[in-house]
Amino acid sequence: MALTGLENNDLKLIIFGGKGGVGKTSCAIATALALSENFKTLLISTDPAHSVSDCLEQKIGFRVVKVDGTANLFAIEVVADEALSGFIREHQAELKKLLETSTNLDNDDIEEMMTLSIPGIDEVMSFKTIIDFMEEGQYDKYVVDTAPTGHALRLISSPRLLDEWIKVAARMRWKYRYMITSFSGSYQQDDVDVFLLGLKKTVKRIETILRDNNRCEFIPVCIPEAMAILETGRLLAELGTSGIVSRQIIVNNVMTSQGCDFCMKRKNAQMPYLHDISNKFENLSRIEVPVFPEEIKGLDALDKLRMCLFFNCQSKTFDN
Ligand SMILES: Nc1ncnc2c1ncn2[C@@H]1O[C@H](COP(=O)(O)OP(=O)(O)OP(=O)(O)O)[C@@H](O)[C@H]1O
Ligand SMILES: [Mg+2]
Repeated sequence: MALTGLENNDLKLIIFGGKGGVGKTSCAIATALALSENFKTLLISTDPAHSVSDCLEQKIGFRVVKVDGTANLFAIEVVADEALSGFIREHQAELKKLLETSTNLDNDDIEEMMTLSIPGIDEVMSFKTIIDFMEEGQYDKYVVDTAPTGHALRLISSPRLLDEWIKVAARMRWKYRYMITSFSGSYQQDDVDVFLLGLKKTVKRIETILRDNNRCEFIPVCIPEAMAILETGRLLAELGTSGIVSRQIIVNNVMTSQGCDFCMKRKNAQMPYLHDISNKFENLSRIEVPVFPEEIKGLDALDKLRMCLFFNCQSKTFDN
């Protein structure tokens, strides 16, 4: 099988996730390269390990750059820490006021609270950067490479976590509003209310896009090994509860050659896991990618992977 449906005009956001080291970055870049042939494509790395830069052999940073050697592929690294510090800088005053007006904390407590993280906020902020790009609409496709499973799961559950926090904050505000109204007879919405409302809207925007099966697709990447299969199972279960759709799964590093004793043994060892994958994830179409003799680095190697993903390469050309 080959990857399908990604050229559909409605589909904008394609997210790759899976266990560490299974080939997410390689597959995300190869997919972005393929799509960039017909669509203006933005490749977004949310992995702080800078692996997109390494794989493309080109420095990619917190600013969009055109990928050398391509006509229509652009790339950016959106790192949660940076997105979060930008958010804190921008909204420090509102956060402080929220704590001052809603609790019995003294100044020292408030200063300490300000240094604590709001659950899910860093991931939400990196996601916000992504959907801001989508809403600006400069690109036709947005391909996201995530860090290993834990991170993809955090990314997906972050809107829910932040939503809980907003609810608590809104309850604290409600008490404050009640007090003001009791004393002065009326209450005017202030900058903290506007801030909380803005956050709530951001959460809603993210959830709406993630759950829209026409606009967003999550592609899990797995390899024929026990741990990777278990993690993929957990990832898909979490995606299911979050209402995020997966239609296809990439099974990477599949041994195809039988040319030597070692290859034969590896191939046989993978067999039960390949069966396991087809049983456990039977509702997903599987794209098998052979293990290449060399690592996937640079445009030529990525192009080979692109061929496998989109044109089903079980042929001798890619014999390992
Ligand atoms: N089919 C393949 N054949 C040979 N090497 C591969 C294949 N797929 C990926 N690799 C190599 O495996 C290594 C890990 O791949 P990659 O960085 O894409 O994985 P990842 O899932 O993004 O890892 P991480 O979880 O660390 O972000 C890289 O060196 C890459 O070149
Ligand atoms: Mg990676």
